[in-house]
Amino acid sequence: MIMEPVIDPFGRAIRYLRVSVTDRCDFRCVYCMSEDMQFLPKKEILTLEELDRLCSAFVGLGVEKLRVTGGEPLVRRGIMTFFEAMGRHLKSGALRELTLTTNGSQLEKYAADLARVGVRRVNVSVDTLDADRFKRLTRWGRLDQVLRGIAAAKEAGLRVKINAVALKGETDEELWDLLAWCAREGHDLTFIEVMPMGDIGNEMRLDQFWSLRDLRAQMAERFTITDLAERTGGPARYVRLEETGQKVGFITPLSHNFCESCNRVRVTCTGQIHTCLGQEGSSDLRAALRASDDDAGLQDAIRAAIRLKPRGHDFDYSRGVAGKITRHMSHTGG
Ligand code: GTP
Ligand code: 5AD
Ligand code: SF4
Repeated sequence: MIMEPVIDPFGRAIRYLRVSVTDRCDFRCVYCMSEDMQFLPKKEILTLEELDRLCSAFVGLGVEKLRVTGGEPLVRRGIMTFFEAMGRHLKSGALRELTLTTNGSQLEKYAADLARVGVRRVNVSVDTLDADRFKRLTRWGRLDQVLRGIAAAKEAGLRVKINAVALKGETDEELWDLLAWCAREGHDLTFIEVMPMGDIGNEMRLDQFWSLRDLRAQMAERFTITDLAERTGGPARYVRLEETGQKVGFITPLSHNFCESCNRVRVTCTGQIHTCLGQEGSSDLRAALRASDDDAGLQDAIRAAIRLKPRGHDFDYSRGVAGKITRHMSHTGG
């Protein structure tokens, strides 16, 4: 049974929860983290049982799409126990979709289990198909391992959406290869504008940023682009390339704001709720979770947090520190 959703102050129904189950990751992507990233002490992290209770409370409040994120969600020990627990909400019909965003490094191991608990599609981050560039961009990642993970996902019957962060001087050199690979393999592909989140060491983020307006213009040199009305409940807008029939998504927080249709909130592995990716504010849910075994207080805390959901983000490269967020993307899982 689908429940009535919680409505935020701007009339947006909250139907989508992104839960970050760990802030750790086995990669160190250059646009996401610094190489010597500090992670949370283990004692701060919610147990898998607590994460189950927390997410189930959201499902009880009308969330029907649950995306598991990280860091890298599949490096959390015992994570399949959590996926199995969430699978029960698919069976009851309360959740329409249970899915994850992953770097793919552990997919070979987990793809079959994910399919078994009811996951139907996965979003895998692949910014490049060049092994050397992949190594440079992820610092610790190996392309062949990720490609094996993607093959395992397909083999298990999962649909694969590739997420590629658009990077100046990188993606522009590889646009045709990425498109051709996704067309050949039958993967959807979504490009993401790099967002100013967290200190990433020496790299200059403005040097990385490549507007998707420019990417689209490059794509139009070779393809006829048709805008599609279809949405997945996420922030991407989709187009079809007529020559190949493939679908390509654009996530454009910088060049085109999509906050007016935002339907989502995030919780971190410490039980903080962030009602906007692009704002500093958060509320604590862990205290309410631990205060009582009854979910009434927890649900009140969730409603109270959603009452504070801001209208939208303030990302803006031209405003210096004012347009940046201090926390890293890996904290909230994007
Ligand atoms: P589907 O549409 O269900 O495939 O997923 P999705 O696009 O919602 O999820 P995914 O994890 O693939 O998201 C891709 C990226 O979009 C995230 O990692 C973020 O970088 C970005 N994103 C998602 N939601 C928001 C949002 O509310 N604001 C901003 N600025 N970026 C977002
Ligand atoms: N800006 C945009 N996307 C980012 N990601 C990580 N950091 C950033 C950033 N600063 C992407 C990852 C992954 C998704 C979870 O978010 O590549 O696809
Ligand atoms: Fe890990 Fe994803 Fe951040 Fe890369 S973008 S370091 S894979 S959390």
